[in-house]
Amino acid sequence: MGGLATKSNVSQSLTVNKTLRRNVPETKLYSNSTLKTMLDKYKMVYVKPNDGTGGHGIMRVEKQGQRYQYQLKTFTQSYTSFDSLVRSMKKSMKRNPYVIQQGIHLLRRNGRLFDLRVMVQKNLKGNWETTGMIGRLGHPRKIVTNLCKGGKPMSIEVLMKPHVINMDSYKKNLETLGYRTARRLNQTFPRIKELGLDIGIDRNLHPWILEANPRPAIYGFKSLKDKNVYRKICRYQKGYGR
Ligand SMILES: Nc1ncnc2c1ncn2[C@@H]1O[C@H](COP(=O)(O)OP(=O)(O)OP(=O)(O)O)[C@@H](O)[C@H]1O
Ligand SMILES: [Mg+2]
Repeated sequence: MGGLATKSNVSQSLTVNKTLRRNVPETKLYSNSTLKTMLDKYKMVYVKPNDGTGGHGIMRVEKQGQRYQYQLKTFTQSYTSFDSLVRSMKKSMKRNPYVIQQGIHLLRRNGRLFDLRVMVQKNLKGNWETTGMIGRLGHPRKIVTNLCKGGKPMSIEVLMKPHVINMDSYKKNLETLGYRTARRLNQTFPRIKELGLDIGIDRNLHPWILEANPRPAIYGFKSLKDKNVYRKICRYQKGYGR
């Protein structure tokens, strides 16, 4: 899909835009020295295959004082030096490129991390429209929320209710963010018709665009009570021939 499918391309395209920049976590191609710098700066980062999918191979790396640790799948390992951390991480890393991304402290429900999937599509008039939003509650012991990794689809209302007073306006803001993100990415990637945005919400309720998927799976939206959402997604997909 026209080069969109890497996380570094997406973040590069989005940070050009002054408004969107606030919603994009710092993302850099992997190197040992960049990992060291970003751990000093953020204390927690995600290391991900640049063209990865499905939450595969993703690591959460932390620095606490002079101690380092990383988690892959459900295993956490601790180290007393940066060099031993990296030596161990390298054993789980494949040869393909990785990115390091500023870690977002995602909101939790019953101790489990969750994030949001926002579907944006070209409607029948050819204009971008946010068509669906759903939450994904991660597996209790994992650092990713992907449905194929044991995540559970849940409505945004249920997940955000403890945190948000005006749900309608909060959702409106997310819709606008989705719309803006799609318009911006469409300038860089002219052929895209739909995007599944992974949006993480931090403790200040600030939304962060973790990733943009050009051909997102839509089965999660089937579980929403409002069946019109899934129907509309399919109708628009027919319109542009997916
Ligand atoms: N910077 C980050 N901070 C906090 N959590 C993150 C971060 N990056 C990723 N995650 C968690 O890991 C999950 C998977 O990450 P991401 O969407 O970037 O890769 P992927 O799912 O493998 O790719 P794809 O969505 O194309 O399948 C996210 O949905 C989120 O739960
Ligand atoms: Mg994802």
